[in-house]
Amino acid sequence: MIWDFCKTNLTIAGKILFMRTVFWEDNQLKMIDQRILPGRFEVVSFQDHASVARAIKDMVVRGAPAIGAAAAFGMALAGYASAATSSRELLDDLQAASDTLKAARPTAVNLAWAVDKVLWVAEKLKDERKPDELRRLVLSAAQRIADEDVEINKRMAEYGALLINDGDTIIHHCNTGALATVDWGTALGVIRTAHQQGKRIHVLVDETRPRLQGARLTAWELEQYGIPYEIISDNMAGYFLRSGKAQKVLFGADRVAANGDVANKIGTYMLALAAHDNGVPAYSVVPTSTIDLSLAHGGLIPIEERDPEEVLGIQFQGERVAPVEAEARNIAFDVTPNRLITGIVTENGVVYPPFEVNLKKTVLGE
Ligand code: MRU
Repeated sequence: MIWDFCKTNLTIAGKILFMRTVFWEDNQLKMIDQRILPGRFEVVSFQDHASVARAIKDMVVRGAPAIGAAAAFGMALAGYASAATSSRELLDDLQAASDTLKAARPTAVNLAWAVDKVLWVAEKLKDERKPDELRRLVLSAAQRIADEDVEINKRMAEYGALLINDGDTIIHHCNTGALATVDWGTALGVIRTAHQQGKRIHVLVDETRPRLQGARLTAWELEQYGIPYEIISDNMAGYFLRSGKAQKVLFGADRVAANGDVANKIGTYMLALAAHDNGVPAYSVVPTSTIDLSLAHGGLIPIEERDPEEVLGIQFQGERVAPVEAEARNIAFDVTPNRLITGIVTENGVVYPPFEVNLKKTVLGE
């Protein structure tokens, strides 16, 4: 048996048992490079906030809670890199860094949420603390966001696992596991907890074109956890739902509007439509930090459009699929209207319609 232990990742016999996707070590931010999995498992280090912003844009790190934690640590790096000699000057530098980090990807609200949470600490204490103390407090705030993410995921997973029956086949979209968070996961976290409880589960993993987060990352994670799965191309989900071969649909979200409309990885809308048409429950699993009560409905959520090359660059039998002259669109997220969502699983419990009323209660604790 081979033990390979570092502060953040524990591997036994080639299987990862415990892992942190985003972590602080040796005064640097370290992150698992998600562009090269499952072929290679590598951890990359970051020393400045601008390279963290680039890593978020290029999807070295991806998944709403993971990019939030990465950006929070990016703020800590900006604090340590700043030459400011007063706390007010430091705050100016942190504000500039926050703009760069927030601009990296537009759809996941967790990014701005995490950056603002860290910034708020610096703003609140700027008149009371010396710059070096403030730098340390910014790092502690980032570390708290990362640690709480793991706890929150585990709480959500307990609530979500109550919805899963022994023998269920679950269709899962994108990657929502440890890799999309700091550890454990949102929708995949529910699957992990239900599996740990001894429920026999089979996962149909949407491959999730064009970046293939399902086929590459979710499949890799399920291998690590020993959970049975099969990869399906995204357009097969309707077949499994219509033929009664799937009992649940689970996905995460990058932003949930106040009325329960859910922005998530492109293809979620079509999956939820097919689930609804066949009476199969579809749940979105999200920390409350993903719920944006400031937006009345999903039409107001900014939707990222990425480089068309991510669509065009795919190969078939070793050859590029599309003609060299071809053009493409690469919309990264879609919005699933609330009427197609059975429930939204959060760390405070499962929220059911009417979402306008119940989400507010869940988020604000009313
Ligand atoms: O483009 P990505 O890979 O960052 O998209 C991620 C997703 O759509 C996830 O489903 C979402 O972030 C929620 S999972 C924690």
